[in-house]
Amino acid sequence: MQIDVVTLFPEMFDAISLHGMSRVALDKGAMSLKCYNPRDETQDRYRRVDDRPYGGGPGMVMMAEPLAKSIDRAKSSNDGEVIYLSPQGQRLDHGLVLSLAARDSFILLCGRYEGIDQRVIDSRVDREISIGDYVVAGGEIPAMMLIDAVSRLLPQVLGNADSAKEDSFSNGMLDCPHYTRPEIFENMAVPEVLLSGDHQKIAKWRKQQATLMTRLKRPDLLDKDLK
Ligand SMILES: C[S@@+](CC[C@H](N)C(=O)[O-])C[C@H]1O[C@@H](n2cnc3c(N)ncnc32)[C@H](O)[C@@H]1O
Repeated sequence: MQIDVVTLFPEMFDAISLHGMSRVALDKGAMSLKCYNPRDETQDRYRRVDDRPYGGGPGMVMMAEPLAKSIDRAKSSNDGEVIYLSPQGQRLDHGLVLSLAARDSFILLCGRYEGIDQRVIDSRVDREISIGDYVVAGGEIPAMMLIDAVSRLLPQVLGNADSAKEDSFSNGMLDCPHYTRPEIFENMAVPEVLLSGDHQKIAKWRKQQATLMTRLKRPDLLDKDLK
């Protein structure tokens, strides 16, 4: 999978290229990640990428030209959708992550300040994706969340392919509780069934616990199945 990112802060992406499953995806060649900085597309001595909004008001807006040039540069070797990370976009969820993980490529566009010039959205953006109904300072962390979620679903990235299948949301339910050593921690024992070695019983217990957790924490997921 080829992911290209248009961002004023390429160095932030070290967080996912140097760590975690996204690093594994890069190391195994399952994913490539390249950043394009709109500042590199400026000609003035201040390398200016933002300006005051027409009509007045607070804050600055990312200028169209450096952004458009960066997107076009990325598009010259990436024919995937251009996705703008935006609080106004479709909410990122498991279904959307699955559909993105099935793509060959896409380009992520990260905004800053008050956002980006609308004409870039009108002329270059295919889709907007949001990480939730709140506003963060820039599109970089939302883009990294998306890449992190997608990269762990790529074939051969997770050590045990079954582990993603058992994660929350993959079966329309939350995950079951997990335990590791020691057997007793602050007087709390690991459930006996997990020490039994009986794999059928363990699988049944995990399914029951997953259903219980879902009923307790996210009953809406079960209701969805009934609809
Ligand atoms: C401070 S925000 C601008 C918010 C914009 N004025 C609005 O209210 O729609 C700056 C940038 O952060 C990113 N951003 C902020 N919240 C986001 C969210 N919930 N999901 C995805 N990206 C977000 C976007 O790229 C946005 O251009």
